[in-house]
This record gives sequence, structure tokens and C-alpha cells, in this order.
Amino acid sequence: MSGYGRILCTRAAAAVGKIGRWAPPAAASVRAYRATAARLGSAAGPAAKTGSHILDTYVRPPIVLSHGKGSYVYDTAGKEYLDFTAGIAVVALGHSHPGVAAAVAEQAGALVHCSNLYHNVWAPRLAQRIVEETLAAFPQGTQGIYAGAAAAPPRVFFANSGTEANEGALKFARKYGKHVAEAGSLGRGASEALRGDPGLKHGIVCFTGGFHGRTMGALSATANPKYQKPFTPLVPGVQTARFNQAAEIGSFVDERTCAVIVEPIQGEGGVHQAQPEFLRALRRRCDQVGALLIYDEIQCGLGRSGRLWAHQLYPEDCSPDVVTMAKPLANGIPIGAILVSDRVAQIIKPGDHGTTFGGNPLACRAGCVVLDHIAAPEFLEHVQQAGRVLDQELARLLAPHMGRAVVELRGAGLLRGIQLRSDPAPVIDLARERGLLLVAAGGNTIRLVPPLNTGITDIKRGAAIVAECVGQLAA
Ligand SMILES: Cc1ncc(COP(=O)(O)O)c(C=O)c1O
Repeated sequence: MSGYGRILCTRAAAAVGKIGRWAPPAAASVRAYRATAARLGSAAGPAAKTGSHILDTYVRPPIVLSHGKGSYVYDTAGKEYLDFTAGIAVVALGHSHPGVAAAVAEQAGALVHCSNLYHNVWAPRLAQRIVEETLAAFPQGTQGIYAGAAAAPPRVFFANSGTEANEGALKFARKYGKHVAEAGSLGRGASEALRGDPGLKHGIVCFTGGFHGRTMGALSATANPKYQKPFTPLVPGVQTARFNQAAEIGSFVDERTCAVIVEPIQGEGGVHQAQPEFLRALRRRCDQVGALLIYDEIQCGLGRSGRLWAHQLYPEDCSPDVVTMAKPLANGIPIGAILVSDRVAQIIKPGDHGTTFGGNPLACRAGCVVLDHIAAPEFLEHVQQAGRVLDQELARLLAPHMGRAVVELRGAGLLRGIQLRSDPAPVIDLARERGLLLVAAGGNTIRLVPPLNTGITDIKRGAAIVAECVGQLAA
């Protein structure tokens, strides 16, 4: 085994199941990382660097990342970067997390995959953890997934990515829509037309600035012409309403609507938070017309907002019927999941939906480690504190540029946005040269999504670099 591998495995074995705080690597480990970087760099060769065999769907900077530790990643030339992208809000526990590494290593030697033809040990455990932690974190919940949950708790379907979680959620909503229309349980105002043809209740409402994924259903609910236009025709029955416009909901969400899908905090769209009255109006309208309220918490969920779920920042009458999750759930091992209320679970039957890989023991075991950490109150308190510090530091350091190069600072927890007056690409490039990785979001916004356990010193360091870069380019 290589020195790097040995160090990882020894540390990992010591740390399984513990809430590990990352300590800076010892000099010996740094030397081992560098040796690994050099080896991988030469093995990768020029083809890997330019990606000449890889389909051109991304524009990437000319660096090759080889490994990471905590909130830092390293390229094959040995350069260190403070990672404020976390693989786009994925690596919540930081890179090479010892607990995750040990769990994955052990599971890889036991059972990676057995398909959904059979039960495995870890999928039910992770599902139980998700349900129990969700309910425990929001004891005041009375609506949506929380309604009657003590007797009939919500349930989980595992998928492999965010877009796939949303596909499943939209499919479940289509079936739910037919069910309530057929059962005649729409209450007052249901039209003859709908009673005669329950299939008419298939409408999906999404919002401007939302992002739900790249597969056909999720893409159809992602109202961005850049993503949609090349791939038309889209899935029919999807309408786009304006985000945060509570007064307009009534004209979009009607008895033919089976689902409303929304991010409580839009990530990709530019870090925009939903107003409580907007989510409350959605909840109320969905109840009136018998539609499901789906919260896409793929980016803002699982601790990123400082609460287990971003919707738990809101009053109880803003709760969803369905929550989709993915990115950080297994700290980088592909996974997605759909949490549905018992009301929805009752109408989903064997054969309705499926996946080969979803719920495999490798990803689910990693997910159990992630949940153990993220659901801990002290972990979420750290996210809140780190988010406050990041916000304060950005406000202080960027004050001279406010109203000029900087339009606005936004966000919650460790999902932060700096909206610039112009394209943020030059700032992001300069920051990378100075050893800080950043990612853009919509509307000229720089998105800051560091690992959730990033230490306060590194939070301040990241804020200082980004402010310096904004300042230099604004000068
Ligand atoms: C809110 C939201 N939904 C869905 C997705 C799609 O997830 P994935 O890329 O895993 O398919 C993303 C990805 O950025 C996202 O941010």
C-alpha cells in the first residue's frame, strides 16, 4: 500500500463512527500527499489534463486535482487550494473524511451492490436515520411530512443523484394527482372535467431561478432557456411562475396541478431565499387544490442552511409533502433520495418506480456516517456560527465595493452568494490563482459553499481572499 493510502487507512480506522474534527495534516502526511500528487500527475498525462477523450460539456480551468483533506484540495503540481466549492455543496464533511473513508473501505470489502431484488443492511438504516432525524429536528411540525408522523412516519426512496431524486418525486406526484382526482377527494370546487378524466390532474408548477437537474423531467421544471432550449420539446404540463410572488400563485396552481416544486433557498439560480409568506401561500394553495408541495433541498438541505433542512428555518405551516436530497448525503459517493409523507407513500406500489443502483449498501453506509455528523446539534451550531462569521467578514471586507462592484450579499448558513455587477469569472480565476476555489451561480453571483465543518480560521481566510480579488478587479 502507498504511504498515502496507509496514512488514510490508519487514520480512518481510528475514526470510524466518531465526530471527527479535521486537524492540519502532519508534515509526513503532507510529504505523502505530494508524492501521491506527483505520481498521479505523471500517470494522468496530457490527455487526461486536456480531457481530449471526454465529451466537451464543461469548461474547466487548466489544473488537475489529485487529492484533498478537510477543506483543502491539491492539484497534481502540488498546489494547495482552500475549497469553497466542496464539489458544489457535496463534500459536507470535507475531503477524505476519515469516518467516511473507513466505512466505505470496509463496505467495499463486504458488499458494494446487490440490486433492489434483495434487502441490504444499510439502506433501511439510512432511511430510518433520515426519517428520525427529520422528525426530531422539527418537533413542532404538523403539516406535510410531519402530519401524523408519530403514527405514520414519512418514507424514503433512494436514487443516485439529485436530478433522479426529482424525477422520482415528479413521477410520484403524477400518480398522486390521478389518485386524488379518481378518489374524488379534492374537496370543494373540483370540476366535472377533472372527475371525468383524473389524468388531467398532471400539472407541475416550478419557479423562475429554480434548478432541479438535467434529465428530461427535472430539466422541464428548470426554467432556464440556456439549459432547456437545445433539448426541446420538454415534458408537457409544466408551468413556470415567478419566485417569491405569493400573490400570483393562485393563477398558476389550480385543481389540475399535481405538484409544485421549489427550492427553499435557490442555489444555482444565485442564492435567493424564499420568503416565509411565499412558502406559506404555496402550502395553503397546494392543500386547497390537492397538489403535493415538493421542496428540492438537494443543495440547501442536509445542514447547509444551519438547520438539518432549510425548510426548518421556516414556521410549521411552510412544511412540504416531499423533500428531495442528494449532494452531501454520502459526502461524494453518488446518492439521491426522496422523502415522502405517509399520504404519498400509501399510493406508491411495488413496480411503480425503480433503479438498479439506488440504495446500494456502499452509498447508504457512507450516508449513515454523514447523518451521524450532520444531525448533531453541535455540528449545526458550527454551521450557523461559520455562516455568521462568513457573512460578517464579507460585509466588512466588501463594504468599500457595496453598491459599486458588489450588488448584494445573500444566503443562510454556509450557502452564501456575492452578487457582482458583472460576470464573476475573472474573480473566480484570480481567486483560484491565489489558492481559493469558488463557483459561480446565476445572475453574476459568486457562490460560497465550503465544507460544513470548515474551521473559523479558514472561513475568514476564504473571505479575505475573495474580498481581495474583488477589490483588485474593481480597482
Ligand atoms: C437544487 C438542485 N436540484 C437538483 C440538482 C441536480 O442534482 P444532480 O447534479 O446530482 O443531478 C442540483 C444540482 O446542482 C441542485 O442544486
